[in-house]
Amino acid sequence: MRLLKNLSALAILVCVCDARPTSSVVFEKIESSPAGWVLDKAAKVDKDETFITLKIHLVNQGLDKFHKLAMDIATPGHPQYGNHLDHETILAMTAPKEESVDLVKEWLGREISNAKVDVMGDYFTVEGTVSAVENLLKTKYNSYVNEETKAKTLRTLEYSLPSVLLGHVDMVQPTTYFGVKQFRSTISEHHAIADEADDFHVEAAQAVTGCTGTRITPTCLANLYNFANAKNETTGLLGVAGFLEEYAIKSDFTTFLNSYAYFNNKAKTFTCTGVNGGTCPTSPAGIEANLDVQYAGSISSSVPMTYYSTAGRGQWVGSGTNTNEPYLEFLNYLIALPAASLPNTLSISYGDDETTVPLSYATNACNLFSQLGARGVSILISSGDSGVGSTCKVNGKTSFTTAFPAGCPWVTTVGGTTGNSPESAWSSGGGGFSEVFGRPDYQNATVNKWLTTDTTHSAVTNYFNSSGRAYPDISAQATNFVIIASGSAQSVSGTSCSAPTTAGIFQLLNSARIASGKKGLGFLNPWLYNTASSGFTDIKSGKISGCSGVISGAGFSAVAGWDPATGLGTPNYEALLTFATSTA
Ligand SMILES: *[C@@H]1O[C@H](CO)[C@@H](O)[C@H](O)[C@H]1NC(C)=O
Ligand SMILES: *[C@@H]1O[C@H](CO)[C@@H](O)[C@H](O)[C@H]1NC(C)=O
Ligand SMILES: *[C@@H]1O[C@H](CO)[C@@H](O)[C@H](O)[C@H]1NC(C)=O
Repeated sequence: MRLLKNLSALAILVCVCDARPTSSVVFEKIESSPAGWVLDKAAKVDKDETFITLKIHLVNQGLDKFHKLAMDIATPGHPQYGNHLDHETILAMTAPKEESVDLVKEWLGREISNAKVDVMGDYFTVEGTVSAVENLLKTKYNSYVNEETKAKTLRTLEYSLPSVLLGHVDMVQPTTYFGVKQFRSTISEHHAIADEADDFHVEAAQAVTGCTGTRITPTCLANLYNFANAKNETTGLLGVAGFLEEYAIKSDFTTFLNSYAYFNNKAKTFTCTGVNGGTCPTSPAGIEANLDVQYAGSISSSVPMTYYSTAGRGQWVGSGTNTNEPYLEFLNYLIALPAASLPNTLSISYGDDETTVPLSYATNACNLFSQLGARGVSILISSGDSGVGSTCKVNGKTSFTTAFPAGCPWVTTVGGTTGNSPESAWSSGGGGFSEVFGRPDYQNATVNKWLTTDTTHSAVTNYFNSSGRAYPDISAQATNFVIIASGSAQSVSGTSCSAPTTAGIFQLLNSARIASGKKGLGFLNPWLYNTASSGFTDIKSGKISGCSGVISGAGFSAVAGWDPATGLGTPNYEALLTFATSTA
């Protein structure tokens, strides 16, 4: 009878809400700003002259059914395998209730004037002054400054919605989400290209041809990951995500190909597409952007490549617009592209500490990834550069921490390795178990096997939630990649190196399939874990660490089989190609 009692309590609550449509409830609340963001007390914000573009997301209907279909489409052997969806079909399957649209319209009409309101699909966009938005959300925005980057952002720790909108609206941003960062940990000083070449000759003996000494180049990766004899692929499209005013420079790309390409694709270039007002200038060179296009682009032979330069930092400067954070803008842009313009593979080297991402935001962005996968895009994401965590607190409890979107079950998360004799887990590579997303079926058996047979994690079982989505799924080299920026060679490290490396390799696989009349692989994970798991070289040495000074002995070891340090292992292109061409 408990259930019935709860139901009648709910009914009473609904009646009260209906009787007083303007009563508000706190919709979302965070305890404090994320680590590194401090209240900027000195800031003077003219709240009548500063604008916010608010995105209000309506609750989708039919999401469970859609997710099941998205998984079937990605599961080899299922009758729906490879039947990627068009945008209209996804919109129709997940459209919000008309009542939701009407209620939000009514609310905005009543509570905000002089604002520009648009409704498209499941989003309302409202551009208004900070004062007007504060009044709408019964909140106050404050300026916060990032201690490291000095970036400023207007955010709030809680906001309210009319109680009649509960069940109709599931996210309002920018409010409580403070924004993305790059997964690139270190850059060494500049080297002239000639010095760089000299360095190579004096280094120690190499185990893998081309992997001279400590620096990584495409030639080294081609030998290490067995794609040195890959065909010259020309079909399909590889996409590289760019945020935070990181600009990919074409002349650097050309210099890089001329100096380091493993393959004769020196004439290759790329297209830069601005998203959300993003631009494509010829300087300054973004280290992250150049790393991403240089590795994804050189590895993917002659496949066309697009760099998406998405504007928006979720920041403001004195007055003007406090721009929306860019992730949702970017994903919504891609999802709506016609099939012919959609990349087959997408490399993303940006993310956040999962604990700093509000649940509503994480859930919505992860849903967008599920849609992109169902449209046929294989998404490779860096696992992060903090090992098992840096703050190591989750809801006040001492715990390993994880990264977003690495922990979203609808992306393929790429961890880090280093060295080649043997190739080992990179100590700072991100890995672990999401605190917000549960374990998906495709990895259930694999992760259970590790949980029940691995003997190296018994001392740390209290610091992670073993029922969460586990990552990384796969891994690749993450240290000392040579890149060209502003004409000279530098070396960089981070799982920002691993994502574009694997994206280049998966694009070769997708292009090979497309050239033979098949569909691209789309969302990879069910295929990876259940068809192609032996297409990876198992990494069995090294350990990811983290939580230093908080949890002693923190980390996960690379062991035989899947593990949360290096996933299934590093790619063996020729083996993966055999699986890719034999999968229907
Ligand atoms: C690969 O194909 C492209 C496009 O057709 C061509 O320009 C390039 O010369 C080819 N490269 C090699 C090594 O065959
Ligand atoms: C562990 O994760 C599961 C699903 O991911 C969640 O339902 C559960 O609440 C979590 N438990 C704890 C103690 O955080
Ligand atoms: C996951 O694996 C466990 C242990 O093998 C099993 O009991 C459970 O039913 C599995 N769950 C799913 C959804 O397959």
